Amino acid sequence: MPSWREFWDSAHSIYVSERHKDVHYRDVAEQLAGFMSHPNARVLDHGSGEAIHADLVAAAAREVLLCDSAASVRASIAARFAGNPKIKVIAPEDVERLPGASLDLIFANSLVQYLTPAELDRLLALWRRLLAPNGVLIVADVIPPHVGALSDGIALIRYAGANGFLGAALVGLGRTALSRYRRLRSELGIARYSEAEFLAKLRAAGFSGERLAKNVEHNPARMTFRARPAPLTS
Ligand SMILES: C[S@@+](CC[C@H](N)C(=O)[O-])C[C@H]1O[C@@H](n2cnc3c(N)ncnc32)[C@H](O)[C@@H]1O
Repeated sequence: MPSWREFWDSAHSIYVSERHKDVHYRDVAEQLAGFMSHPNARVLDHGSGEAIHADLVAAAAREVLLCDSAASVRASIAARFAGNPKIKVIAPEDVERLPGASLDLIFANSLVQYLTPAELDRLLALWRRLLAPNGVLIVADVIPPHVGALSDGIALIRYAGANGFLGAALVGLGRTALSRYRRLRSELGIARYSEAEFLAKLRAAGFSGERLAKNVEHNPARMTFRARPAPLTS
């Protein structure tokens, strides 16, 4: 039985070109850095992917932990950032061993759609334990039930047009239609949540959350949430 975990741990063509990958990760890193409230922040990027511009985040933080479940992705980021003492690459098991209340910002972009609802609940509980009382959780690129491949395709074309890789995007979209990603997406599905459902999940895990006006990634129909630990009631 194929799985999303295996997919992310293999060679895939989710980015239509090197330019797309570069623009994407720079954009994500700049926005992640913008969520930091102070330069002493300890940050976790959970499901970081290759995070090729994580040095931009590190320049604005005390420490950046990059966690990805794919061993091949971890090896690639560890090699890329071997010379940067502020960046540490860790596996999901390592995140579970971090001390409570030790993180100021937890960021998860384009991760939760590849988790089952039960896996998401476990992660939300873990993130709640790890966040400092004034810490912030950002969960981005959450897909609402009505948003599908057409919306993603149009958003990619707009993003590509604005960032100089339109030709590659048009070719890439044709390729994606026949790709392993598309097959897996119809076989395994991806998790979708309405705004109200996601806010309810955050609440149930002990956060108070809000949907931000703008999604981190290029599809404005997908959603970004900011959440803070809710005070414990006795
Ligand atoms: C769509 S990519 C997003 C990468 C990156 N966050 C970005 O902004 O481009 C999803 C990433 O999450 C990782 N991933 C999937 N499930 C995970 C889990 N349970 N824990 C940590 N990483 C996970 C995958 O290996 C993959 O690299």
